[in-house]
Amino acid sequence: MCPAEWLHLPEDVRPLAALGSEERIRHIRAKRWVDYPHADRVMRRLNEIYAQPRSERMENMLLIGHSGMGKTTLVRKFERTHTVRVGNSGTCRLHPIVVMLMPHDPTGPRFFAQLLKAIGVPTIDSFERTAPRESTVLRVLAEVQAKVIVIDEMNSVLAGTARQQRLFLQLLRWLSNELRVALVGIGVPETRHALLSDDQLRNRFMNLELPAWENGEDFSHFVTRLVWSLPLREPSPVDSRRLMKMLIGRTGGITLGTCKAIERAAIMAIRSGAERLDYQAFEHAEVWDGIEAPVLMAGHRRKSRLG
Ligand SMILES: Nc1ncnc2c1ncn2[C@@H]1O[C@H](COP(=O)(O)OP(=O)(O)OP(=O)(O)O)[C@@H](O)[C@H]1O
Ligand SMILES: [Mg+2]
Repeated sequence: MCPAEWLHLPEDVRPLAALGSEERIRHIRAKRWVDYPHADRVMRRLNEIYAQPRSERMENMLLIGHSGMGKTTLVRKFERTHTVRVGNSGTCRLHPIVVMLMPHDPTGPRFFAQLLKAIGVPTIDSFERTAPRESTVLRVLAEVQAKVIVIDEMNSVLAGTARQQRLFLQLLRWLSNELRVALVGIGVPETRHALLSDDQLRNRFMNLELPAWENGEDFSHFVTRLVWSLPLREPSPVDSRRLMKMLIGRTGGITLGTCKAIERAAIMAIRSGAERLDYQAFEHAEVWDGIEAPVLMAGHRRKSRLG
C-alpha cells in the first residue's frame, strides 16, 4: 500500500503510516496534544493572565479538575508556548512561566526549593541546612523575569496542618505582592477549600474547571481527533453512539482513561493486522486493564465554571 491511499489520515500523519509496526507503536505511545474546546478556553484565560501588566493586584487563577483530566498536560503546553531562549547557544533561558510542583510538605523552605528546581537552579538535597532564602528566590525570579508561577498539585497543601496551610497562604500573598507575579494554582476539586479560608486570596483567584467529559459532540470530536493522529492504515469508524457511550461509561469521562484505552486498542490493532479501531476493538478486556470510572460527584460532572 502506498501513502497516497491513506487519505483517511491527516497529511502530516500519512508518512508515519508507512513505518514498520514497532515504530508506529512507539509513535502511539508518545505524548501528543489534541485540542478541545474546554482546553482552548482555559488557554485563553491563561494567556490573559500572562498578558496582564504587573500591578499590586494581579489576577490569579485556580484550575481544578479530577485526576487525569489533563491539567498538567495543558499547563505544560502553556509553558511551551511562552518559553524564551536568549543568545545563539540558547543556553541563557528566561522563565516567564515557571511550572512548579507543590511539595508534599507545604513549608516555606520546601516550597522555595521546588520553585528553584522548576527554574533549573540546583538546590542541595539536605536543604534543611541550606534552605534557599527569600532574598535568593526573589533575585532568581526577577532574573528569569518570571511573570506567572504555576503551582501544580496545589491540593498537597491540604495534607498540611491548619497552621501550615495558613502559612502557605501567607507565602502566596507575599509572592504575589512582592514580586507582582500572577499565580496559577492547579489541583483536584478539593483544592478550592485551601483558598476559601483566605478572603483576600479567594477574591483574587478566578476559578476554572476542566470538567469530566459527557457524552456529546465535544467528546466525539476529541476521540476522533485523537484517533486521526494515530498511524493506522485503515479508516476507523469511532464516532458511533454505541462506542461513545462505552468510552464514557468505562472511563467516567476522564481523559487519561480515554487516551489510554484508545492507545492500547490502536496498538492491538497494529499487532493483529486489523489496522482500525471500531467498537469490537474496545471489547478486548486487555484494553481496560486498570482503567476504572471514578465516582464523581454530580456537580463536578455537569457544571462547568468556564466563561
Ligand atoms: N489535550 C490532550 N491531548 C492528548 N492527550 C491528553 C490531553 N490531555 C490529557 N491527555 C492525556 O491524559 C493524561 C493525563 O493528563 P494529566 O497528567 O495532564 O492529568 P492531570 O489532570 O494533571 O491529572 P492529576 O490531577 O492526576 O495530576 C496524559 O498523560 C495524556 O495521556
Ligand atoms: Mg497533574
